[in-house]
Amino acid sequence: MSRARSATTFPSGKIKILLFENIHESASAIFANHECTVETVSGALPEKELVERIKGVHIVGIRSKTQITKRVLEAADYLLAVGCFCIGTNQVDLNAANRMGIPVFNAPFSNTRSVAELIMSEIVMLARRLGDCVRELHTNLWNKSSTGCHEIRGKVLGVVGYGHIGSQVGVLAEMFGMRVIFHDITKRLPMSNSREVESLDQLLAESDFVTFHVPATPETNGMMQAEHIAKMKKGSYLLNASRGSVINLEALAEALKSGHLAGAAIDVYPKEPRGNGPGFESPLVGLKNVVLTPHIGGSTEEAQENIGVEVATACMGFINKGTTVGSVNFPQVEMPLKPGAHRILNAHRNVPGVMAEILKILSSHDANIHAQNLATDEHIGYLVTDLDQSVSDDVKMAIAALPTSIKTRILY
Ligand code: NAI
Repeated sequence: MSRARSATTFPSGKIKILLFENIHESASAIFANHECTVETVSGALPEKELVERIKGVHIVGIRSKTQITKRVLEAADYLLAVGCFCIGTNQVDLNAANRMGIPVFNAPFSNTRSVAELIMSEIVMLARRLGDCVRELHTNLWNKSSTGCHEIRGKVLGVVGYGHIGSQVGVLAEMFGMRVIFHDITKRLPMSNSREVESLDQLLAESDFVTFHVPATPETNGMMQAEHIAKMKKGSYLLNASRGSVINLEALAEALKSGHLAGAAIDVYPKEPRGNGPGFESPLVGLKNVVLTPHIGGSTEEAQENIGVEVATACMGFINKGTTVGSVNFPQVEMPLKPGAHRILNAHRNVPGVMAEILKILSSHDANIHAQNLATDEHIGYLVTDLDQSVSDDVKMAIAALPTSIKTRILY
């Protein structure tokens, strides 16, 4: 039988995909394009049903409600990858998946534009006191006034955390004629005319609007306390759509009541309700010129569509090329495909002597290696080897038989 084939791909026609929780159809379209069989389930299943349903499935796609526990992973006899079509991944037992050689992908950046656009709209809302106007008119109160209302053109926007979202906010703000300064703990390239300042204090002292786009870390936990808010300009505005742990909301409420700050827009809270319905509480409720939104910064249909594309593409990249870059629980490898070679993907326990055994196998088969890439973490190693087509099947079987091998796959 001739094993020499021109392209290096997995037989995706045989791949079975199971998608839960109404994942956007942009994902199914990508999987279908690769001729995978796609099944969908509208909600999440309890563990007992999931362990049955996941049998024979190669890729499972979930959002935040489906729990991929160790038991589910153990029942998943053919599972190659998990796609979390959302940002968070704590609904998956990441350690168990790692030990079983199953990478987990998510979409951390697909909704960044949505957040940036929300912030821009809120800057205008705060400057024009739109929240109060809308509320008053809905209670039949006509209150036309220009007092305390401003253009944002020429005003200084201070961006704290100049990453994916912060830098986009900066670019959009400049289009409105704002002057943008930023502070980040990592050296960041300024976009268009924005300017990096030396410290958070300097940013707080210079800005008319301060917006936070930092991750949740021990350093950002409570980084805006009363003493920091006091360093902001009188009559300035504070916005946070990053994480609820960043700003002390009691201190913010005091600064708004005293008139030190002219307004605030908050999308994230230290404690957020588990589901939709009444019962939201915050010291900011009822205060003037305060825009409160229920953590909807990244919640747009466009973001859902982008998430579908990003995660499905990552899963197919792993299926067809073995690429694990972007996975949250796996050693990261990305290697361009070599025409004329076959690719062996091997996840193994990270113990001494594994590579020596694998190299022994390659050498005993006289296999000519076209390219090889190994990445490891504390528990597993992930080795991608491109080699001669003539010996690839035998080499794959020998590597798979090693007691240290967890998962071994070949791409033709
Ligand atoms: P990113 O990782 O691209 O950027 C974060 C930036 O903050 C990085 O440049 C980092 O160096 C910087 N940073 C970290 N610690 C800092 C500190 N102590 N001081 C100053 N800068 C610091 O993250 P991305 O995608 O821009 O997201 C930012 C935040 O927005 C995250 O917390 C994320 O969870 C949140 N988010 C909120 C959404 C919502 O619905 N409201 C939706 C999406 C993201």
